[in-house]
Amino acid sequence: MSEHSQTAPTQPGLYLNGAWQAGLGPHFVSEDPASGAVVFAAHAATPPQVEDAVAAARAAFPAWARMDRAARIAILEAYGRALQSRATALAEAISRDMGKALWESTAEVAAMVGKIAISVRAYDERTGARSEGAAFGRTALDHRPWGVMAVLGPFNFPGHLPNGHIVPALLAGNSVVFKPSELAPSVAVLMVEAFEEAGLPPGVLNVVMGARATGAALLGATGIDGVLFTGSATTGTAIHAMFAGRPEVILALEMGGNNPLIIWDPADPEAAADLIVHSSFITSGQRCSCARRLILPEGRFGDQVLEATLARIERMVLGSWNADPAPFIGPVIHAAQAARVGQFEAALKALGGKSVVEARIGVEGPAFVRPGLIDMTGASEAEDEELFAPFAQIFRVKTFEQAIMRANATRFGLSSGLVSDDPALWQEATLSLRAGLINWNRPTTGASSALPFGGPGLSGDGRPSAYYAADYCAYPVARQEADVAARLSAPGL
Ligand code: NAD
Ligand code: SIN
Repeated sequence: MSEHSQTAPTQPGLYLNGAWQAGLGPHFVSEDPASGAVVFAAHAATPPQVEDAVAAARAAFPAWARMDRAARIAILEAYGRALQSRATALAEAISRDMGKALWESTAEVAAMVGKIAISVRAYDERTGARSEGAAFGRTALDHRPWGVMAVLGPFNFPGHLPNGHIVPALLAGNSVVFKPSELAPSVAVLMVEAFEEAGLPPGVLNVVMGARATGAALLGATGIDGVLFTGSATTGTAIHAMFAGRPEVILALEMGGNNPLIIWDPADPEAAADLIVHSSFITSGQRCSCARRLILPEGRFGDQVLEATLARIERMVLGSWNADPAPFIGPVIHAAQAARVGQFEAALKALGGKSVVEARIGVEGPAFVRPGLIDMTGASEAEDEELFAPFAQIFRVKTFEQAIMRANATRFGLSSGLVSDDPALWQEATLSLRAGLINWNRPTTGASSALPFGGPGLSGDGRPSAYYAADYCAYPVARQEADVAARLSAPGL
């Protein structure tokens, strides 16, 4: 911990009914992973305070749900403008907390602003109202909000991903209790500021700060109607188990991946290496969409791609989020995660894996990891798990069919990709890759907000987010209408 450690003032840990209050729970801090400086400090919200937040959201729900939709849209559009006006502060808050380069956080804030218009469009397309005459009377389709949504956010996109639940949830008329990641909580303070400036009524959005215990208190609170979660498969699976037998609580669980990228004889090995680096190592490998498994053909071409990838790893600039010149990647979230890379690599070597390049841990600082690659061809099968770090496994295979089999050999199903000049192989990949996002000659990362984002297997519970968030934020109401005077009749009556 640096000399800055004592300088971050203690912030309130609870935003309740439109006002910040001190949390009464354990003290926690968020540190800039590059320097160790404490950049955020607060006392967590206690379980009774979390109950208060849910009660506030419950009380605010009816008026918000009944508000004219155009008025809700106007508030959310004002929120978007308020985000835009503090774009620099938001991006810096994200980078300071979790370490990614400022150019990345700037793009994250742009996605947050863009979410409003996309959510309005998605709501209209996915849940829009319609009515028509029927043989007997009229029918109409309507959508209603569920009630109080608990939103739990991850650290890697601490603004964009919770925002991707919150905006569609509010648009549909739900109220929200948001627990940001304890590893990157600062952005939530600025989001609240933007909502206040936009005129969001008190109680419609409440924030509870803290770590797992606060999250657990929120999940256990009386009266939540939904859990909108983005995070690891371990946490998501625990949430799924916690709500087993409670169908009245809607869950949308966005979880991790062990994503494959097949590179199959494209003409340009240098371009293929660029795609590998942007798939596997961007954000220090801390995107759910990062490629963890690279599948290449045996032979000279695959060797050339790997050589070009190694050259990029060697010249890659690692550094603090605001370093000049800008780094390609910053540190991972903390030194313990960096150490995990070494443990993971050692475990794969024990299975027979051969390092192509070892991950270099702790050179630029305790949480920095220069990417590593390990060849697992012919090794014993490794655990099918996601290592959230810049490290990838390589598999060399003889045939494209084997490549597809290797790609699908996972319990997850989030992102995947094919790098190839051959449209017939792409056609085959679209039919056979088992994942919610399939990319051709582009990175496995960089999911579009204008498409659904989720996938089969352990990557979620089948309720994708992004464009399809509208689906889990409102339930359909089938209305059948008639005039009393249209008398019923039936045989035997
Ligand atoms: P995490 O699961 O550790 O934490 C996510 C949130 O859940 C945090 O707010 C955390 O405090 C809370 N939490 C953790 N344990 C809890 C518990 N027992 N009860 C209640 N709340 C709890 O995830 P993370 O490390 O912050 O984020 C990285 C993970 O998120 C990766 O696995 C990544 O793949 C995944 N992710 C998925 C998507 C997607 O859209 N599918 C997007 C981004 C990240
Ligand atoms: C993520 O949500 O972790 C990744 C989104 C992306 O693909 O950029």
